[in-house]
Amino acid sequence: MYVCNCNGIRERQVRAAIEAGASRPAEIFRAHQCQAQCAKCVCEMRQMIDESRQSLRFAAE
Ligand code: FES
Repeated sequence: MYVCNCNGIRERQVRAAIEAGASRPAEIFRAHQCQAQCAKCVCEMRQMIDESRQSLRFAAE
């Protein structure tokens, strides 16, 4: 499933960028050598970053 239709970035690619250390949508775009265009996907990327942080927090407890 695509998260970013403008740049063709899929959900698994976003997750891979987050696992590689991306903590902001801009870093996810940079990891895929592109930039935000319409920015409709930024909210979903932020949500995925937050979910990833929460799972790490639970794992650490
Ligand atoms: S959907 Fe990602 S920049 Fe447009």
